[in-house]
Amino acid sequence: MTHHRAPISLLIDCDPGVDDAVALALALAAPDRVTLLGITTTAGNVDLRRTTRNACLIREIAGRLDVPVHSGHARPMTREPVIADDFHGPDGLGHYPITPLESGPSSEDAISFLIQTIDSHPAGTIDLAVTGPMTNIAVLIRQAPEVAKRLRQIIIMGGARREGGNITASAEYNVYADPEAADICLNSGCKLIILGLDATHQVRGTQGWIDAINALNTPLATLVAEMLAFSNALPANLVDTAEPDKPAPGAPLHDPCVIAYLLVPEAFTCQPCQIRVETQSELTRGHTAVEFRHQIADGFNALWVTQIDATAVLDLLLKYLAR
Ligand code: RIB
Ligand code: CA
Repeated sequence: MTHHRAPISLLIDCDPGVDDAVALALALAAPDRVTLLGITTTAGNVDLRRTTRNACLIREIAGRLDVPVHSGHARPMTREPVIADDFHGPDGLGHYPITPLESGPSSEDAISFLIQTIDSHPAGTIDLAVTGPMTNIAVLIRQAPEVAKRLRQIIIMGGARREGGNITASAEYNVYADPEAADICLNSGCKLIILGLDATHQVRGTQGWIDAINALNTPLATLVAEMLAFSNALPANLVDTAEPDKPAPGAPLHDPCVIAYLLVPEAFTCQPCQIRVETQSELTRGHTAVEFRHQIADGFNALWVTQIDATAVLDLLLKYLAR
Protein backbone atom coordinates (compact mmCIF):
# COMPACT_ATOMS: atom_id res chain seq x y z
CA MET A 1 0.00 0.00 0.00
CA THR A 2 1.46 3.35 -0.91
CA HIS A 3 1.12 5.98 1.77
CA HIS A 4 0.46 9.52 0.57
CA ARG A 5 2.60 11.69 2.78
CA ALA A 6 2.99 15.43 2.82
CA PRO A 7 6.58 16.70 2.43
CA ILE A 8 8.42 17.11 5.71
CA SER A 9 9.93 20.53 6.55
CA LEU A 10 13.19 19.54 8.16
CA LEU A 11 16.25 20.98 9.88
CA ILE A 12 19.23 18.68 10.45
CA ASP A 13 21.84 19.35 13.16
CA CYS A 14 24.84 17.08 12.67
CA ASP A 15 28.57 16.35 13.08
CA PRO A 16 29.57 14.66 9.78
CA GLY A 17 30.89 11.98 10.41
CA VAL A 18 30.56 9.00 8.07
CA ASP A 19 27.07 8.00 9.24
CA ASP A 20 25.90 11.64 9.37
CA ALA A 21 27.01 11.76 5.72
CA VAL A 22 24.68 8.87 4.89
CA ALA A 23 21.83 10.57 6.78
CA LEU A 24 22.40 13.83 4.87
CA ALA A 25 22.60 11.91 1.58
CA LEU A 26 19.23 10.29 2.25
CA ALA A 27 17.57 13.60 3.15
CA LEU A 28 19.16 15.43 0.20
CA ALA A 29 18.17 12.66 -2.26
CA ALA A 30 14.46 12.98 -1.39
CA PRO A 31 13.46 16.57 -2.23
CA ASP A 32 9.89 15.40 -2.97
CA ARG A 33 9.57 14.07 0.57
CA VAL A 34 11.93 16.34 2.51
CA THR A 35 11.99 20.12 2.28
CA LEU A 36 15.41 20.52 3.87
CA LEU A 37 15.32 24.06 5.28
CA GLY A 38 18.93 23.93 6.43
CA ILE A 39 21.83 21.97 7.86
CA THR A 40 23.47 23.15 11.07
CA THR A 41 26.78 21.74 12.23
CA THR A 42 28.40 21.16 15.57
CA ALA A 43 31.77 19.91 16.73
CA GLY A 44 31.71 16.19 17.51
CA ASN A 45 33.20 13.34 15.53
CA VAL A 46 35.77 15.83 14.25
CA ASP A 47 36.20 19.56 14.91
CA LEU A 48 33.67 22.20 13.78
CA ARG A 49 35.75 23.36 10.82
CA ARG A 50 35.74 19.82 9.43
CA THR A 51 32.11 18.94 10.24
CA THR A 52 30.99 22.19 8.54
CA ARG A 53 33.26 21.63 5.53
CA ASN A 54 31.99 18.05 5.28
CA ALA A 55 28.34 19.15 5.34
CA CYS A 56 29.09 21.61 2.51
CA LEU A 57 30.91 18.92 0.52
CA ILE A 58 28.05 16.42 0.92
CA ARG A 59 25.41 18.91 -0.28
CA GLU A 60 27.60 19.61 -3.36
CA ILE A 61 27.92 15.91 -4.15
CA ALA A 62 24.12 15.71 -3.85
CA GLY A 63 23.72 18.69 -6.19
CA ARG A 64 21.84 20.58 -3.49
CA LEU A 65 23.54 23.93 -3.11
CA ASP A 66 20.02 25.25 -2.44
CA VAL A 67 20.28 23.92 1.12
CA PRO A 68 22.10 26.36 3.44
CA VAL A 69 24.75 25.17 5.91
CA HIS A 70 25.19 27.13 9.15
CA SER A 71 28.06 26.49 11.52
CA GLY A 72 27.27 26.17 15.24
CA HIS A 73 29.15 25.57 18.46
CA ALA A 74 32.80 24.60 18.34
CA ARG A 75 32.77 22.89 21.75
CA PRO A 76 30.40 21.33 24.29
CA MET A 77 28.60 23.58 26.79
CA THR A 78 31.06 22.91 29.62
CA ARG A 79 33.06 19.77 28.83
CA GLU A 80 36.34 19.45 26.96
CA PRO A 81 35.75 18.30 23.35
CA VAL A 82 35.94 14.55 22.76
CA ILE A 83 36.32 13.68 19.06
CA ALA A 84 35.62 10.27 17.53
CA ASP A 85 38.04 10.35 14.62
CA ASP A 86 38.99 6.71 15.16
CA PHE A 87 35.43 5.88 13.98
CA HIS A 88 35.36 8.48 11.20
CA GLY A 89 38.93 9.12 10.06
CA PRO A 90 40.89 12.35 10.63
CA ASP A 91 38.81 14.26 8.04
CA GLY A 92 35.54 12.80 9.31
CA LEU A 93 34.60 11.18 6.00
CA GLY A 94 36.79 8.09 6.07
CA HIS A 95 39.18 8.10 3.13
CA TYR A 96 36.87 10.17 0.89
CA PRO A 97 38.90 12.78 -1.06
CA ILE A 98 38.31 16.24 0.41
CA THR A 99 38.18 18.56 -2.59
CA PRO A 100 37.97 22.39 -2.43
CA LEU A 101 34.38 23.55 -1.87
CA GLU A 102 32.34 25.35 -4.52
CA SER A 103 30.66 27.27 -1.71
CA GLY A 104 31.07 27.32 2.03
CA PRO A 105 28.70 27.83 4.97
CA SER A 106 26.43 30.86 5.33
CA SER A 107 27.74 33.69 7.47
CA GLU A 108 24.80 33.51 9.91
CA ASP A 109 25.55 31.25 12.88
CA ALA A 110 23.50 28.11 13.46
CA ILE A 111 21.58 29.31 16.53
CA SER A 112 20.39 32.55 14.88
CA PHE A 113 19.44 30.58 11.78
CA LEU A 114 17.48 28.00 13.78
CA ILE A 115 15.60 30.68 15.76
CA GLN A 116 14.79 32.74 12.67
CA THR A 117 13.70 29.71 10.61
CA ILE A 118 11.53 28.11 13.31
CA ASP A 119 10.00 31.47 14.25
CA SER A 120 9.09 32.32 10.64
CA HIS A 121 7.16 29.07 10.04
CA PRO A 122 3.79 28.15 11.56
CA ALA A 123 4.14 26.33 14.89
CA GLY A 124 4.14 22.54 14.61
CA THR A 125 5.27 22.42 10.97
CA ILE A 126 9.05 21.87 11.28
CA ASP A 127 10.85 18.69 12.39
CA LEU A 128 14.40 18.80 13.74
CA ALA A 129 16.74 15.82 13.27
CA VAL A 130 19.78 15.70 15.59
CA THR A 131 22.62 13.32 14.77
CA GLY A 132 25.51 14.67 16.82
CA PRO A 133 26.22 16.08 20.27
CA MET A 134 23.22 18.22 21.27
CA THR A 135 25.08 21.46 22.04
CA ASN A 136 23.39 23.63 19.39
CA ILE A 137 19.93 22.41 20.36
CA ALA A 138 20.54 22.98 24.06
CA VAL A 139 21.69 26.55 23.35
CA LEU A 140 18.57 27.09 21.19
CA ILE A 141 16.36 25.81 24.04
CA ARG A 142 18.17 27.98 26.61
CA GLN A 143 18.10 31.13 24.43
CA ALA A 144 14.59 30.73 22.98
CA PRO A 145 12.58 28.02 24.76
CA GLU A 146 9.29 29.16 23.23
CA VAL A 147 10.80 28.97 19.75
CA ALA A 148 12.05 25.43 20.40
CA LYS A 149 8.53 24.45 21.51
CA ARG A 150 7.25 25.51 18.05
CA LEU A 151 9.01 22.47 16.57
CA ARG A 152 6.64 19.60 15.71
CA GLN A 153 9.13 17.04 17.00
CA ILE A 154 12.85 16.51 17.59
CA ILE A 155 14.25 13.16 16.46
CA ILE A 156 17.56 12.43 18.17
CA MET A 157 20.15 9.72 17.61
CA GLY A 158 21.59 9.22 21.07
CA GLY A 159 21.74 7.16 24.23
CA ALA A 160 21.53 3.46 24.90
CA ARG A 161 19.64 1.11 27.22
CA ARG A 162 20.13 -2.62 26.59
CA GLU A 163 23.14 -2.10 24.30
CA GLY A 164 25.47 -0.43 26.79
CA GLY A 165 27.80 2.28 25.50
CA ASN A 166 30.02 2.75 22.45
CA ILE A 167 32.40 5.47 23.69
CA THR A 168 32.53 4.13 27.27
CA ALA A 169 30.96 1.05 28.82
CA SER A 170 28.09 3.25 30.02
CA ALA A 171 27.51 5.87 27.35
CA GLU A 172 26.74 6.43 23.68
CA TYR A 173 28.95 9.06 22.00
CA ASN A 174 26.46 11.89 21.20
CA VAL A 175 25.26 12.01 24.80
CA TYR A 176 28.72 11.42 26.29
CA ALA A 177 30.27 14.30 24.29
CA ASP A 178 27.90 16.86 25.86
CA PRO A 179 25.78 15.33 28.65
CA GLU A 180 24.67 18.75 29.94
CA ALA A 181 23.28 19.57 26.49
CA ALA A 182 21.49 16.23 26.34
CA ASP A 183 20.01 16.92 29.80
CA ILE A 184 18.63 20.28 28.63
CA CYS A 185 17.09 18.66 25.53
CA LEU A 186 15.51 15.82 27.54
CA ASN A 187 13.96 18.33 29.96
CA SER A 188 12.80 20.76 27.27
CA GLY A 189 9.19 19.62 27.07
CA CYS A 190 9.57 19.27 23.28
CA LYS A 191 8.19 16.14 21.59
CA LEU A 192 11.21 13.81 21.47
CA ILE A 193 11.78 10.61 19.53
CA ILE A 194 15.04 8.99 20.62
CA LEU A 195 16.94 6.41 18.57
CA GLY A 196 19.54 4.88 20.86
CA LEU A 197 22.03 2.13 20.13
CA ASP A 198 19.28 -0.37 21.00
CA ALA A 199 17.60 0.72 17.75
CA THR A 200 20.48 1.64 15.46
CA HIS A 201 22.44 -1.58 16.14
CA GLN A 202 19.58 -3.39 14.37
CA VAL A 203 20.48 -1.73 11.03
CA ARG A 204 23.74 -2.98 9.54
CA GLY A 205 25.47 -1.95 6.31
CA THR A 206 26.48 -5.42 5.15
CA GLN A 207 28.68 -5.93 2.07
CA GLY A 208 25.66 -6.95 -0.02
CA TRP A 209 23.98 -3.58 0.56
CA ILE A 210 27.25 -1.72 -0.05
CA ASP A 211 27.67 -3.51 -3.39
CA ALA A 212 24.06 -2.72 -4.38
CA ILE A 213 24.49 0.96 -3.49
CA ASN A 214 27.85 1.14 -5.26
CA ALA A 215 26.31 -0.36 -8.39
CA LEU A 216 24.02 2.69 -8.67
CA ASN A 217 27.15 4.49 -9.86
CA THR A 218 26.14 8.05 -8.95
CA PRO A 219 28.39 10.45 -7.02
CA LEU A 220 26.08 10.37 -3.99
CA ALA A 221 25.73 6.57 -4.02
CA THR A 222 29.50 6.22 -4.33
CA LEU A 223 29.96 8.52 -1.30
CA VAL A 224 27.48 6.46 0.74
CA ALA A 225 29.09 3.15 -0.27
CA GLU A 226 32.50 4.50 0.70
CA MET A 227 31.18 5.67 4.09
CA LEU A 228 29.67 2.26 4.83
CA ALA A 229 32.78 0.42 3.62
CA PHE A 230 35.02 2.58 5.82
CA SER A 231 32.95 1.71 8.90
CA ASN A 232 32.97 -1.99 8.02
CA ALA A 233 36.75 -1.97 7.79
CA LEU A 234 37.15 -0.69 11.37
CA PRO A 235 38.31 -3.16 14.05
CA ALA A 236 35.17 -5.04 15.17
CA ASN A 237 35.72 -4.27 18.84
CA LEU A 238 35.78 -0.53 18.05
CA VAL A 239 32.49 -0.50 16.16
CA ASP A 240 30.39 -2.89 18.11
CA THR A 241 29.48 -4.00 21.56
CA ALA A 242 28.96 -7.55 20.29
CA GLU A 243 31.00 -10.33 21.84
CA PRO A 244 34.42 -10.53 20.11
CA ASP A 245 33.77 -14.12 18.95
CA LYS A 246 30.59 -13.00 17.19
CA PRO A 247 31.66 -9.98 15.08
CA ALA A 248 28.71 -8.12 13.58
CA PRO A 249 27.83 -8.61 9.88
CA GLY A 250 28.41 -4.91 9.20
CA ALA A 251 28.73 -1.56 10.96
CA PRO A 252 25.53 -0.03 12.38
CA LEU A 253 23.86 2.80 10.44
CA HIS A 254 23.19 5.13 13.36
CA ASP A 255 22.30 8.52 11.88
CA PRO A 256 20.48 7.43 8.69
CA CYS A 257 17.86 5.80 10.94
CA VAL A 258 16.82 9.30 12.09
CA ILE A 259 15.92 10.32 8.52
CA ALA A 260 14.39 6.91 7.80
CA TYR A 261 12.12 7.39 10.83
CA LEU A 262 10.69 10.49 9.14
CA LEU A 263 10.29 8.79 5.76
CA VAL A 264 8.98 5.37 6.81
CA PRO A 265 7.75 5.70 10.41
CA GLU A 266 5.83 2.43 10.01
CA ALA A 267 9.23 0.62 10.05
CA PHE A 268 9.83 1.82 13.62
CA THR A 269 8.38 0.67 16.94
CA CYS A 270 8.46 3.16 19.81
CA GLN A 271 7.69 2.97 23.51
CA PRO A 272 6.89 5.92 25.81
CA CYS A 273 9.60 6.36 28.44
CA GLN A 274 11.23 8.60 30.94
CA ILE A 275 14.81 9.11 29.77
CA ARG A 276 17.35 10.88 31.96
CA VAL A 277 21.09 11.36 31.60
CA GLU A 278 23.97 11.09 34.08
CA THR A 279 25.94 14.35 34.30
CA GLN A 280 27.58 14.04 37.74
CA SER A 281 29.50 10.75 37.74
CA GLU A 282 32.73 10.55 35.70
CA LEU A 283 32.46 6.74 35.58
CA THR A 284 28.94 6.75 34.08
CA ARG A 285 28.99 10.22 32.45
CA GLY A 286 26.45 10.29 29.60
CA HIS A 287 24.60 7.13 30.68
CA THR A 288 20.93 7.28 29.69
CA ALA A 289 18.49 5.80 32.18
CA VAL A 290 15.44 4.75 30.13
CA GLU A 291 12.43 3.90 32.35
CA PHE A 292 9.28 2.33 30.87
CA ARG A 293 7.48 1.68 34.19
CA HIS A 294 5.05 4.58 34.70
CA GLN A 295 4.69 3.60 38.40
CA ILE A 296 8.37 4.45 38.87
CA ALA A 297 8.85 7.27 36.36
CA ASP A 298 7.80 10.75 37.45
CA GLY A 299 6.55 11.57 33.97
CA PHE A 300 7.35 10.31 30.48
CA ASN A 301 9.36 12.72 28.31
CA ALA A 302 10.14 10.82 25.10
CA LEU A 303 9.37 7.97 22.74
CA TRP A 304 12.19 5.38 22.77
CA VAL A 305 12.64 3.37 19.54
CA THR A 306 12.77 -0.31 20.41
CA GLN A 307 12.53 -2.00 17.00
CA ILE A 308 13.48 -1.12 13.42
CA ASP A 309 12.67 -3.05 10.24
CA ALA A 310 16.25 -2.87 8.93
CA THR A 311 15.36 -4.04 5.43
CA ALA A 312 12.85 -1.20 5.09
CA VAL A 313 15.57 1.32 6.00
CA LEU A 314 18.15 -0.12 3.61
CA ASP A 315 15.57 -0.46 0.82
CA LEU A 316 14.71 3.22 1.33
CA LEU A 317 18.37 4.20 1.04
CA LEU A 318 18.76 2.20 -2.18
CA LYS A 319 15.53 3.62 -3.61
CA TYR A 320 16.38 7.25 -3.02
CA LEU A 321 20.04 6.95 -4.01
CA ALA A 322 18.93 5.35 -7.28
CA ARG A 323 17.20 8.56 -8.38
O1 RIB B 1 27.03 6.83 18.76
C1 RIB B 1 26.80 7.08 17.39
C2 RIB B 1 26.76 8.55 17.12
O2 RIB B 1 28.01 9.13 17.45
C3 RIB B 1 26.55 8.87 15.62
O3 RIB B 1 25.83 10.06 15.51
C4 RIB B 1 27.95 9.03 15.11
O4 RIB B 1 28.01 9.94 14.01
C5 RIB B 1 28.64 9.66 16.29
O5 RIB B 1 28.40 11.06 16.24
CA1 CA C 1 26.74 11.87 14.18
